[in-house]
Amino acid sequence: MKNNKKLVENFELDEAATQLLDALEKENNRVKDFLINSYKGLPVSLEMKEEAYNYFLNNSVILTAMTTNPGSSVFTEFLYDRVSSSSSIDNYVLQCKNGRAVHARLVAIEKELPKIIEEYRSKNDNVLIGNLGSGPGRDIINVFSTHYRNASNIRAVSIDKDVNALRRGRVMAKVQKVDHLIDFCEGNFFKYDSPDKFDILLLIGVLCPLDTETCINILKMAKRFLKKGGCLIASNVTKKMEKEDPFAYFIMKWLASWSLVFKDEEELKKIYEKAGYAWKEGFRDSYGFHLMGIGAPIF
Ligand SMILES: C[S@@+](CC[C@H](N)C(=O)[O-])C[C@H]1O[C@@H](n2cnc3c(N)ncnc32)[C@H](O)[C@@H]1O
Repeated sequence: MKNNKKLVENFELDEAATQLLDALEKENNRVKDFLINSYKGLPVSLEMKEEAYNYFLNNSVILTAMTTNPGSSVFTEFLYDRVSSSSSIDNYVLQCKNGRAVHARLVAIEKELPKIIEEYRSKNDNVLIGNLGSGPGRDIINVFSTHYRNASNIRAVSIDKDVNALRRGRVMAKVQKVDHLIDFCEGNFFKYDSPDKFDILLLIGVLCPLDTETCINILKMAKRFLKKGGCLIASNVTKKMEKEDPFAYFIMKWLASWSLVFKDEEELKKIYEKAGYAWKEGFRDSYGFHLMGIGAPIF
């Protein structure tokens, strides 16, 4: 077997990318060559572009789901589940740093959210959590099933425009025996009319592809859902992701035209401040690829 690391010697490819190229070399060498040339910015024929695109979609359930709807939670749920696959491409998506970091984001939220919830439980009789763009809302489901299954003073509302994600969330919540604590609400969060204000509002995996102005508008809109003294936890991809796993990002852009707006702490802090929040702090996943900001609305 040739060492694919050498083939792309101008580029640093990590273990996961090297394994993908080694597998493609056996499965379809033309596709492997296309991927390397395309990544290097060398000319590639339209025929080869079409062949490689079809090859990726025919051989990857995960990337097909992503290409069909890049912002959908179906993609992130694959990364949370991490079920091993016989597809070398799907295995790459699960093993690459970007893929692992999405799972690590969930782990970080599951670790930090209970601490924040406890702060509010120590001050308030009841704690209400909102999850905007929740997908199935696995983060809250997991936190509730681990810590609050029998609690009587905590509830959550998961809001998403994707009816299938919410249907999946209802099943997950039932399986984990926390369905009595969570409401699932279908709709565009811009139009959500909240009967109650939230102590804690999550906005995870929503801002990443959006420019600064759009993020500011979303955070401004979210203020009306929060109680005085409440907090917004919003995530964004950091520049470390772009720097440390450009190959995975290149594949996402090529297949799904999915581009991200990487923001570091200073940028996310400015977004919070311009939207009328006092920035408190941020926490990251273990790869440092996702930053979760925490800010309190100023009324
Ligand atoms: C990448 S998924 C993230 C899901 C979940 N928050 C997580 O961390 O796994 C983004 C979700 O935001 C939802 N979404 C995006 N814009 C929305 C809007 N305006 N109203 C409601 N949901 C929205 C999408 O339907 C999708 O389920």
